[in-house]
Amino acid sequence: MTEREKAIGVFDSGVGGLTVVRELLERLPAEDIIYFGDSARVPYGTKSPETVLRFSRQNLAFLESKHVKLIVVACNTASSLALPALEAEEELPLVGVLLPGARAAARETRNRRVAVIGTTATINSGAYERAIRDIDPGIEIWSGACPLFVPLVEEGWLDDEVTRLTAARYLEPVRRFGADTIVLGCTHYPLLEETIAGAAGPGVVLVDSAQETAIEVEGLLDERGLRTPSSERRRLEIYVSDLPARFREVAERFLGRPVERVERVRF
Ligand code: DGL
Repeated sequence: MTEREKAIGVFDSGVGGLTVVRELLERLPAEDIIYFGDSARVPYGTKSPETVLRFSRQNLAFLESKHVKLIVVACNTASSLALPALEAEEELPLVGVLLPGARAAARETRNRRVAVIGTTATINSGAYERAIRDIDPGIEIWSGACPLFVPLVEEGWLDDEVTRLTAARYLEPVRRFGADTIVLGCTHYPLLEETIAGAAGPGVVLVDSAQETAIEVEGLLDERGLRTPSSERRRLEIYVSDLPARFREVAERFLGRPVERVERVRF
């Protein structure tokens, strides 16, 4: 198999990275995708940087064993806490989700008040604030963790009264801050896009870094001559580290297509 024919690898702690897969399928329909969701160890967002780095290394090693040509770290927590270390030791090109999201936020805001919501680990790392300020030091930033969103998404409660109440409570300070742009700084959150938009109020732009990340992947494939020579729709393989049934259900509902294979792996 030539380098160009290899798949794109994607990992997240759970189903969240599927938001990136959805954009990749749309933008690069002829590429094979191999996804790993670390469902046995989700959430990452409450864990220490050392633990997130250790898990991320194992996830990369698994995807490498599947002979991928590029890996998307489709997890903001891993992108915030582990990406610089991973980049220093990894030979394959890596794409994280943080910078694309920060760029989009700086581009979208009109009143230059941006809110960032994410996991506790991502917010505590301050990585988004640094990235947005590097782009435009004049932007005012409010950031806050929404730790209940990830289990609600993993549970599949995407359109649910409990989720709406949770969102209203988390977004109350964002409304007071007056942000016109909210960065969904966790790849699970776009699955709750409608609920979050409802709680944020009218006219607020939600930045989902998945789309920006897919654009970055496309650019990198072109730059390195790694685009697949095939022009047909290709395979999506999903691997998880715990029971596959619920994962398949959420994945199919979210992607709007059947997933041929969801397989459990053990490290
Ligand atoms: N979806 C991941 C993120 O973007 C991780 C959520 C979690 O595992 O806590 O942060």
